[in-house]
Amino acid sequence: MTNTTAEFIIDGKSYTLPIIEGSEGDRGIDINGLLQQTGCITLDPGFKNTGSCTSSITYLDGNKGILRYRGYAIEDLAEKCQFVEVAYLLLHGKLPNESELEHFRGLLERFALLHEDMLHFFDHFPPNASPMSILSVMVNALHNYYPEMSDDPLENIDITAARLISKIRTIAAFSYKKSVGHPLVYPRNDLSYCGNFLNMMFDKPVRPYTVRPEVVAALNKLLILHADHEQNCSTATVRMVGSAGVNLYASISAGINALWGPLHGGANEAVLDMLETIYADDCNFEKYITKAKDRDDPFRLSGFGHRVYRTFDPRGTIIKTACHEILEVLEVSDPLLDLAQKLEEIALNDEYFISRNLYPNVDFYSGIIYRAIGIPSNMFTVMFALGRLPGWISQWKEMREDTTTKIGRPRQVYIGEPARDFVSLDQRS
Ligand code: CMC
Repeated sequence: MTNTTAEFIIDGKSYTLPIIEGSEGDRGIDINGLLQQTGCITLDPGFKNTGSCTSSITYLDGNKGILRYRGYAIEDLAEKCQFVEVAYLLLHGKLPNESELEHFRGLLERFALLHEDMLHFFDHFPPNASPMSILSVMVNALHNYYPEMSDDPLENIDITAARLISKIRTIAAFSYKKSVGHPLVYPRNDLSYCGNFLNMMFDKPVRPYTVRPEVVAALNKLLILHADHEQNCSTATVRMVGSAGVNLYASISAGINALWGPLHGGANEAVLDMLETIYADDCNFEKYITKAKDRDDPFRLSGFGHRVYRTFDPRGTIIKTACHEILEVLEVSDPLLDLAQKLEEIALNDEYFISRNLYPNVDFYSGIIYRAIGIPSNMFTVMFALGRLPGWISQWKEMREDTTTKIGRPRQVYIGEPARDFVSLDQRS
């Protein structure tokens, strides 16, 4: 990090603050001393200009459409890696060699089962319970079964990370099985991470499931593409909650809740709902494009736009190609894919979307792949959570290892009533 300075004037008085430069040229004014020196805070709703930390995990250049985990291009990782390798990379900062990968896989196998007592939890959710709510509750509850990490959160982090990454997959699949009233299918150590998940989801006593390598490859790719995305809403939540000193399970559970929102991870489910609505409305694109552009209409084009990308979302580009590939392999003809492509074409040629740099994001095509491999739309955001988990854990770990970390506590500019005299109840009009 090279240091230069920023000079500025408040009320005629000049101040100097250091500028921190990142390894890829990102620059941030270090405002640590701002309040003390000037009596002012910064105001930045939505944190559009605010860096909350330095990080060595993920690099993102929104103007060039670049995304890298630990220095490796997302395109290479999505094409050449298994999700488990990428999880290791995020956690440890390096790609695993064969024995490291073997060891990590061994941990994932060892921790795949849920404590049998936890299975009772599933019985007490109503039949239509959201799988995201179930996921968040169950992950939080894991702390009660494995409280040992509270003693020294970083000492057992490898084990806790593997436990979480393995068990979240079992929780997700079990919540689906419960929701459709089918018997639970337990994890099998002879299957890969993704193969195991698919088998737990779709195997039935009356019809064994065949794990197809093409489906495993597609799922691997999706999970890799979701694995981290620097300081997004859910990751910032995980860090914020964790900064209070709470355990990893509770921090991740909070992140799951943040991800649930339709402006964030919930967009993948919203995209499918939107495409189905447009399809059922005689593919009246014009109507929905007009609604999306209308400021008085809350409707937005789900799966479009991004806070950071001002050009294409590289994950969206990879997913679109993968979408065509998997549909072809599975010989699925989905009218929603044609509809999505048409909608994309119209939006990308519309002045409203062009002038605001609105492009399809990671969520625009992912739902069509999930649908093709049999995953119901209310599980889409759960799939996002499975993918994002290694990123959340790595960011939590980085935050805890950083000796400069303090409890997250934003400030505000108060705009309420000035001080006034108390009025007793009998005197109030
Ligand atoms: N449809 C129509 N207009 C949009 C859209 C959209 N999808 N996204 C942004 N805009 C408009 C917005 O109305 C505003 O217009 P104006 O300048 O006239 O007020 C302008 O573009 C800038 O939007 P913003 O809301 O200030 O941008 P933001 O950075 O705060 O929001 C976003 C980013 C992703 C929340 C937003 O683009 C959005 O709501 N997209 C749809 C939901 C979605 O797909 N979310 C998934 C994001 S990617 C995966 C993830 O992060 O989980």
